[in-house]
Amino acid sequence: MNSEPDSKIEPTPAESESPSAEAGSSASGSTASGSAASGSAARVTLEIDILTLFPAMFQGPLAESIPGRVQVRGLATVRVHDLRHWGLGRHKSVDDYTYGGGAGMVMRPEPVAAALEALRRPNSTVILPDPAGEVFTQRRAHDLAQRTHLIFICPRYEGVDERIRTMADLEISIGDYVLSGGEIPTLTMVDAILRLLPGAIDAESTAEESFTDGLLEYPQYTRPPVFDGATVPAVLTSGHHEAVRRWRLKESLRRTVQRRPELLAARKPSREESKLLSEVWAEEAAAVAPLPAALADPPVASDSE
Ligand code: ADE
Repeated sequence: MNSEPDSKIEPTPAESESPSAEAGSSASGSTASGSAASGSAARVTLEIDILTLFPAMFQGPLAESIPGRVQVRGLATVRVHDLRHWGLGRHKSVDDYTYGGGAGMVMRPEPVAAALEALRRPNSTVILPDPAGEVFTQRRAHDLAQRTHLIFICPRYEGVDERIRTMADLEISIGDYVLSGGEIPTLTMVDAILRLLPGAIDAESTAEESFTDGLLEYPQYTRPPVFDGATVPAVLTSGHHEAVRRWRLKESLRRTVQRRPELLAARKPSREESKLLSEVWAEEAAAVAPLPAALADPPVASDSE
């Protein structure tokens, strides 16, 4: 069963210092989703601040499973802030019409600048999720997991004022499609980062999973030994560790050849991998059904036809 962190409302240190902070109130928008205060003496290695207009979107995903456990263990602290706290005027406005005309509203720069003024430190990395950013990868997740303070700005509306981009250190896309805001991309990245923190999960799991070595992960099996006529490969029940290791590497290569060949082009195979790859090529070529005779030797049209 998953242990859940205390999901409690408390001011961030930055907001406590800020004259505009409404400490201890959800209206201040600062939700510490789990924290080292829940008993664990473990060192907090990573702090994450998230700026959003929809703090509630983060509650469930950050409280459950690995992200929740990571916070309970004190390996990370995640604080979610309502950007409207830094909104302008009586209505706490955060958006406006686009200059030059056009549909939709654009996020104004001042609330974001004020929030960053309160939260940013010399060691902070500010991230703007955006479909036009660099594509998020496992390599980037490893890199971000080694930093000390991340701030995510979640855009909404039709987009952000261009000057907000200059406040960010990184613009990151989670793929070539458009979501309705930066919350889900931020959750995606935060999840990928938190599980990589030392102590979050079995180190072996992150060392062997897809992309870590530039390959897709090998197929996995559990009980029953036969399901719907499909059997578990005999090598996996042989107890022969070296044979299992070799089989896994080969199937990892096969899966990458079949599904993401461009990943192979981006890395240099070891001698063992080259040998296994040639076996995979030969097996895959042999598995392709021969062309039907009619196609292999098509009738030639005569000139008179
Ligand atoms: N905002 C909307 N779509 C996005 C995407 N694909 N990646 C990052 N941020 C986004």
